[in-house]
Amino acid sequence: MTKPVFTFFNNTGGIGNTTLVYHIAHMFALMGVRVLAVDGDPQARLSAAFLQDEALQTLWDDTTCAQTLYRAVHPMLRKDDYVAPTPKEITPNLHLIAGDLGLSCFEDPLSEQWCKADDNNENTYGRALDILTAFWRCTQEAAANCQAEIILFDIGPNLGAINRSVLLGTDHVIVPLGADVFSLRGLQHTGPALREWRKSWAIRSAKPFKKYTLPKGDMHVLGYVAMQHQERLSRPVQAYKQWIDRIPGDYRQYIEETTSADIPKIEDDSFALAWLRHYKSIMPIGQEARKPIFSLKTADGVSGSQMATVRAAYEDFQNLATHILLKANLAHLL
Ligand SMILES: Nc1ncnc2c1ncn2[C@@H]1O[C@H](COP(=O)(O)OP(=O)(O)OP(=O)(O)O)[C@@H](O)[C@H]1O
Ligand SMILES: [Mg+2]
Repeated sequence: MTKPVFTFFNNTGGIGNTTLVYHIAHMFALMGVRVLAVDGDPQARLSAAFLQDEALQTLWDDTTCAQTLYRAVHPMLRKDDYVAPTPKEITPNLHLIAGDLGLSCFEDPLSEQWCKADDNNENTYGRALDILTAFWRCTQEAAANCQAEIILFDIGPNLGAINRSVLLGTDHVIVPLGADVFSLRGLQHTGPALREWRKSWAIRSAKPFKKYTLPKGDMHVLGYVAMQHQERLSRPVQAYKQWIDRIPGDYRQYIEETTSADIPKIEDDSFALAWLRHYKSIMPIGQEARKPIFSLKTADGVSGSQMATVRAAYEDFQNLATHILLKANLAHLL
């Protein structure tokens, strides 16, 4: 039985994707759902959120086992198969397969293998399918080993071959959106890229192949998480309002392919998984303490007045985690 894979992705950077994966992974774990978080971004910011620099360095230097995605798939650059990753325990319910800058060296081989998977020669496309599905196969094996019930992937904001490989093994895509022109522009590329990849993977994965069951390449988009910027008197500042208002319509147009005549107004916002506030004052405290913001205590440096924001953040992320599981038909995990 494979475990459901959630990938958080938009083709625009710096909008809080990694922060979202970090917090939602912790929230699922607190709710009793066993999580395997995977850092599929060579920049490894998710790993840096979970681990101190020294711990990361130790893990990168350790050649006795594969603690990073890079080390797990590295043998595939030769003729071999992957080695099963050894996830790092963060909490009893939360494990991490760390990221590594070295993973960037997979960009070119994965591009090459994408073309080869379209070949008619069984040996050629067979090896290509092995390589293209390596992230999916090795993370599924790791999830089974640490009894994870769901897998969460953080990836970088690009349409490159590493992300395509992660996404073809993804059941549910969650799209983070900031209230700015870049996020909305990102949607114009994200929607068509996912459609193209689903179509191309369906052709590649339909070839006769008996070694193991290939991932379906659903990449079903569950919805978006909108990050709101600062609010004044509970109203968004004017500069951001125009982008906030455009989020539901642009999402439908580019991700759901709704025709412009059918694009609903903001009130009909059923694809929103959450509208997260800007947790401006407590986010740096959480980063310093290496804790999710909703677990901060006064001993971490949070003032009495900030505790209301900590509690609000707990509720926001708990609601989001619940919403994600319900929309993904995983209510039994609640
Ligand atoms: N809800 C939030 N409230 C306050 N600050 C936030 C929030 N979400 C993210 N940030 C801050 O925004 C910055 C960018 O966040 P993050 O690294 O998560 O974005 P990203 O989309 O993963 O970026 P990249 O494209 O570099 O991978 C970080 O400094 C983070 O602390
Ligand atoms: Mg990131």
